[in-house]
Amino acid sequence: MNEIKVSAERDYVVSFPSSWRPRFNELIANRSFAVIVPEPISSQIKDVVDPSRLILTSDGESQKSIDSYGSILEKLALMGLDRSSLIVGIGGGATTDLAGFVAATYLRGVDWVAIPTTVAGMVDAAIGGKTGVNLTSGKNLAGAFFSPHEVVIDTNWLSTLSDRDIRAGLAEAVKCGFISEPKILDLVTDWKRNLTEIIALSVGVKAGVVARDFKESHEREILNYGHTLGHAIEKHSGYSLRHGEAVSIGMCFAAELSVKLSGLSGSIAEKHREILQALDLPVTYSATAFDALFDLMRSDKKRGAGGLRFVTLKALGATDRATASRELLNECYLKSVGR
Ligand code: GLY
Repeated sequence: MNEIKVSAERDYVVSFPSSWRPRFNELIANRSFAVIVPEPISSQIKDVVDPSRLILTSDGESQKSIDSYGSILEKLALMGLDRSSLIVGIGGGATTDLAGFVAATYLRGVDWVAIPTTVAGMVDAAIGGKTGVNLTSGKNLAGAFFSPHEVVIDTNWLSTLSDRDIRAGLAEAVKCGFISEPKILDLVTDWKRNLTEIIALSVGVKAGVVARDFKESHEREILNYGHTLGHAIEKHSGYSLRHGEAVSIGMCFAAELSVKLSGLSGSIAEKHREILQALDLPVTYSATAFDALFDLMRSDKKRGAGGLRFVTLKALGATDRATASRELLNECYLKSVGR
């Protein structure tokens, strides 16, 4: 079984077993545990997990509410879980974010294991110890940095996903390619054949960044490449676009900004469009949406004091930071979306 080590406030591994089932049984051996899982996935784990240990959530982002978080804590208490117990989150990024935050706060912190079932979960959400829930005022406004005990990646889960979900998740892998590991950009041209390698390389990129800057004081920000506009587009689209689809558009925009402000060559900006379009990911958005998107970006929690600050690229695999005026952002946006 291959492993990638992550060093954060504690060391842990991302394991790649051929099936999550035996690894799950080893991890829960001789300890009490609870499994937090969305209801639609629960039928796929019935053969392994004792139903009395299951805590079912709703599917998608709605499970990351304060209400569902509170009700899970109450259930753990009723189940009698103690400080030596284990919490396991099985699902996409919303589930592992929620399970991690539950683990961070139940009895002031108990061990937890993430078993991501989506590409986005495997390459991004489950790695790096960011846990949290949403408030009415915004996404991820309550949370904790709290690393798991292990992340178990079994790519067999992906056979249950739609092509659209896989491609959207691959946007985060493409991001890892541009910011740090260009080999990923070659592998995604034949992603069906190379999926496991793409995921492992992306995990390696994230593990390295997190080890150097766990609490995002500077370097970890590079993982937000394409995300400032991406988050705004996700929201503006009423969440009709997947996170990765919005990030795909956001990366094309960040590349234009990089050409203007960080000296990136136009050919690398073009490479963004080529690779993302080949994955059937969107690269443009409404040309008239800039004003609304600008307001959404300004209210994003990552705004800098002196203007909007973006992660940019100087070259393939070399990141930079740039602060841009509204006028320049508008110009790059229109160029990026094709006007
Ligand atoms: N998803 C970005 C990060 O984990 O920092």
